[in-house]
Amino acid sequence: MTPWSVLLFLCVAGSHAMVYDTIVVGLGSAGTTAASTLAQAGKKVLALEAMDRVGGRVNTVPFGDGLVELGAEWIHGTANSRVYETAIANNIDVVNQTLNFQILMSDGSPADTKLLSELMDFATEVIDDPPPVPEPLGQYITRRVKERINEKYPQIANDTDFIESFLFFMDLVIDNLEASNSWNDLSTFSDYEELKGHQYASWHRYGYKTFFELMLNTYNNGPGYPNLDIALNKEVSRITWPRQPAEDAVVSCSDGSVYRARSVIVTVSLGVLKERHAKLFCPELPQEKATLIDILSIGVVDKIVLLFDKVWWPSNVSFIGFLWDRKARINIHPKDKWITKIYGLTIPLANDNAITLWTSGNCAKLVETLPEDVVKTKSMEILRRFMGRNTNIPEPTAMLRSSWYKNPFTRGSYTYDNLLTPQYPNAREDLGKPLLDSAGNPRVLFAGEATNPQHYSTVHGASETGYREAMRLLNISSKI
Ligand SMILES: Cc1cc2nc3c(=O)[nH]c(=O)nc-3n(C[C@H](O)[C@H](O)[C@H](O)COP(=O)(O)OP(=O)(O)OC[C@H]3O[C@@H](n4cnc5c(N)ncnc54)[C@H](O)[C@@H]3O)c2cc1C
Ligand SMILES: *[C@@H]1O[C@H](CO)[C@@H](O)[C@H](O)[C@H]1NC(C)=O
Ligand SMILES: *[C@@H]1O[C@H](CO)[C@@H](O)[C@H](O)[C@H]1NC(C)=O
Ligand SMILES: *[C@@H]1O[C@H](CO)[C@@H](O)[C@H](O)[C@H]1NC(C)=O
Repeated sequence: MTPWSVLLFLCVAGSHAMVYDTIVVGLGSAGTTAASTLAQAGKKVLALEAMDRVGGRVNTVPFGDGLVELGAEWIHGTANSRVYETAIANNIDVVNQTLNFQILMSDGSPADTKLLSELMDFATEVIDDPPPVPEPLGQYITRRVKERINEKYPQIANDTDFIESFLFFMDLVIDNLEASNSWNDLSTFSDYEELKGHQYASWHRYGYKTFFELMLNTYNNGPGYPNLDIALNKEVSRITWPRQPAEDAVVSCSDGSVYRARSVIVTVSLGVLKERHAKLFCPELPQEKATLIDILSIGVVDKIVLLFDKVWWPSNVSFIGFLWDRKARINIHPKDKWITKIYGLTIPLANDNAITLWTSGNCAKLVETLPEDVVKTKSMEILRRFMGRNTNIPEPTAMLRSSWYKNPFTRGSYTYDNLLTPQYPNAREDLGKPLLDSAGNPRVLFAGEATNPQHYSTVHGASETGYREAMRLLNISSKI
C-alpha cells in the first residue's frame, strides 16, 4: 500500500484500528449470551446493537407503579433453562404464575369453563400425537376435536354454533402461542420441545431485563466486563466476510463507523434477515442460506397493556378468554372485525393494576397501524362487552402497546414451523451453520431463536444458540 492508501484505509476504518476477536451483531438473548460467554473467556468483544437498549424482543418498561413486559414475559419451562438457571444462581426468586382461567361469552355471561378447559387441553394435547402424514395443524385439531365431542359429549354434537365458536377461539389460542396468522399455517410436523418444569415462571417485579443485566454483569451497578465493548444505536449495514484466513471481517454501520474482527456472530431476527440479507452481507449469502431464510416463517404477537387506578377484575384468575358467539361475531362491522381476534387477557405480575390484551397475526399487524385512541376505545369496548355485565369498568389511566412487526430491527415476534417444515426438516439447523473461510474456519456465525431446532421462539432457546456459537469459537481457539 502507498502511504496515501494507508491513510485512506485508516479513514475508512475510522479510528477503530483495533481488531476484535469477535463482533456480535444484536444484543437480544442470543447476542448477549454470546458476547458475555466470550468476554468471560477473555476474548476481546464488541457488541453492536441497533436499538437504544439491550434486550431485543425482551423489552421491560416502567409502567404505573411497576413495570410491564412488551416482549417476552415468562420462562417457559424451568428444567435446563439457561434463563431460569441464571435467575436461581443469582438468588432472584422468580414466581411460578398459575394460569387460573375463566372463559367469558360475548354477551357477558360466563361460559362453561370446565367443558372448555377439557376441550382446550384435549386440543393442545393432540399436537403431541401428530398424524402419520403431516397436515395443517388446524385441520387436524378440528377433526380430532369433533371426534372427541361425538364420543364424549354427544349432547353438544349438534350444537354447530358452539363448536364453531370454540374452534374459532382455539385457533386464536394457538396463534397467540405460535405467532401464526392461522393455525392452518402451522404444520403438525415439528421438532419443538417444551422444557420440563413450570411453564410460566415470571420475573415479576424484577423484570425480564434483569436476565440481561445478570449476563452482562451490570446488575445492581455491577461493573460489566472490561473486555466487552457495547455500542447502542449502532445499526449494522454491511458485513464483509473474509474468504482468506489472514483477512479480517469488516462490519460497517449506518452512521459510517467501521469495525474489524476475526469473526462475527449475527443474531438479528429472521424477519430482519428476510428484509435485509441481500444488502447486509458482502459477498451475498450462499444461495442455500438465502433459500432457508425464505422458507422459514416469522409471525406476529403483540400486546395492548392497559393501566387502571384500581383492580376491577376478579382477583382469582390470571387468564380470561373471550369466546364470541358466532352471530354476535358476524354482526361486528367489517372495519372493527379485528376486535374479534383479541382472544383474551392475562394479568401481568410486574404491575399491580394492569391487564394485557393479546393480538396475533394480521390482526396484530393492523393494530400496530391504528391510532392510539382507536385502540384504546375499542379495547375498552371489548372489556365492557365481556366483563362489564356486573362490573362498572373505569377508564384506563394509561395504555402501552408493542409493535414488533413495525420495528425495523425485529420485523416480527418469533418463528413457527410452517407447512414447508416436513420438506425442510433441517432448515433451522442449517440456518445456524457458519460461513467458512478457505481454511474451513467459521468467520460469520449465526445465532438467534430461529436457529434453534427444538427451542425456537423462546428466550431460553435464543440464549442456547448464543452459547452454541460462542463455544464454537472457543473450542476452535483452544485447539490452535
Ligand atoms: C410479544 C412477545 C412475547 C413473547 N413471549 C415470550 C415468553 O413469554 N417467553 C419466551 O421464552 N419467549 C417469548 N417471546 C420470544 C422471545 O422474546 C424471543 O424468542 C427472543 O427474545 C429472541 O431473542 P434473539 O436474541 O434471537 O433475537 P432478538 O431479541 O430479536 O435480538 C436481536 C437483536 O439484534 C438487533 N438488530 C437487528 N438488526 C440489527 C442491525 N442491523 N444492526 C445491529 N443490531 C440489529 C435487534 O435490535 C435485537 O436487539 C416473546 C416474544 C414477543 C415478541
Ligand atoms: C373465581 O371466583 C369466582 C367467583 O367467586 C368463581 O366463580 C370462579 O370459579 C373462580 N375461578 C377460579 C379459577 O378459581
Ligand atoms: C343430531 O342430529 C342428527 C341428525 O340431524 C340426529 O340423528 C341426532 O339424533 C341428533 N343428536 C342429538 C344428540 O340431538
Ligand atoms: C417453580 O417451579 C419449579 C419447577 O417446577 C420448581 O423447581 C421451583 O421450586 C418453583 N419455584 C417456586 C418459587 O415455587
